[in-house]
Amino acid sequence: MKIKETATVFGQSELAPGIFSLLLDTKIVEQAIPGQFISIFSNDGSKLLPRPISICEINREYGILRVVYRVVGAGTEEFSKLKMGDKVEVMGPLGNGFPLEGERAIVVGGGIGVPPMLELAKQLNGSVTAVMGYRNDDLFLTEEFTDMAAELIIATDDGSVGTHGTVVDAMKENDLEADVIYACGPKPMLRAVAEYAAEHDIKCYVSMEERMACGVGACLGCVCQSTEKDDHSHVNNKRVCKDGPVFLSTEVVL
Ligand SMILES: Cc1cc2nc3c(=O)[nH]c(=O)nc-3n(C[C@H](O)[C@H](O)[C@H](O)COP(=O)(O)OP(=O)(O)OC[C@H]3O[C@@H](n4cnc5c(N)ncnc54)[C@H](O)[C@@H]3O)c2cc1C
Ligand code: FES
Repeated sequence: MKIKETATVFGQSELAPGIFSLLLDTKIVEQAIPGQFISIFSNDGSKLLPRPISICEINREYGILRVVYRVVGAGTEEFSKLKMGDKVEVMGPLGNGFPLEGERAIVVGGGIGVPPMLELAKQLNGSVTAVMGYRNDDLFLTEEFTDMAAELIIATDDGSVGTHGTVVDAMKENDLEADVIYACGPKPMLRAVAEYAAEHDIKCYVSMEERMACGVGACLGCVCQSTEKDDHSHVNNKRVCKDGPVFLSTEVVL
């Protein structure tokens, strides 16, 4: 059951230029699973729509939820100013999250798709290879992935660290095999990861990102195209906020 409440900020730090890690003391942590997201509301009444941000870490013992986000506009700029003890309105957990499957998993994150893969890597039972793609050597969360995963492979757009190119270039370079692939990142990346998975006959889950308004399935603002017709509405649509954000790569048009 989703909760809307006033969370208390437990701490915030800048991990890389413009990339912030925010710790929230919230009851949402009690039910959250990897791959779900929360909506964070602005304290400024002129910005009514909440901003969807993925759950990066779940610490039930201390009741703390971690999100990691990039400052892109007014909402995330406002969040970046939050300090320990500040209050912020949140709603969650939202969306369906990643099913935990497979003896050997590859978790793939690109850019701001990196954070949600951390809690997933932590909770998967089998061996995990993490493949993370960054723009340049402004890396973030790499220490955490080194601790959580059996192997961490890095790709950078400018070649400053790891493979010069995309996460899929790194997967090809290392000839990675697995039972299941989980991916979050920009759509062209998801498309390329899904192609890699299909070529290697590997089951693949993708976490989609669409612009959202309500975040709870009511406004249809976030629909993506599905490969099969919906049973109820008989159209090829899925709501990313409620039916996703995690889909089987074969369920959606990437
Ligand atoms: C399911 C989901 C999970 C996400 N997880 C993360 C995360 O973990 N870290 C992170 O940095 N970013 C994440 N995003 C993107 C993040 O929501 C946007 O960067 C943020 O909403 C931008 O808000 P803004 O006010 O700073 O920018 P503005 O451009 O001023 O936003 C204006 C409006 O557009 C919406 N919007 C803008 N960009 C996006 C976007 N890319 N996706 C969806 N809505 C958008 C906002 O919600 C708002 O309604 C996620 C998006 C989705 C859909
Ligand atoms: S954002 Fe309203 S239905 Fe998804």
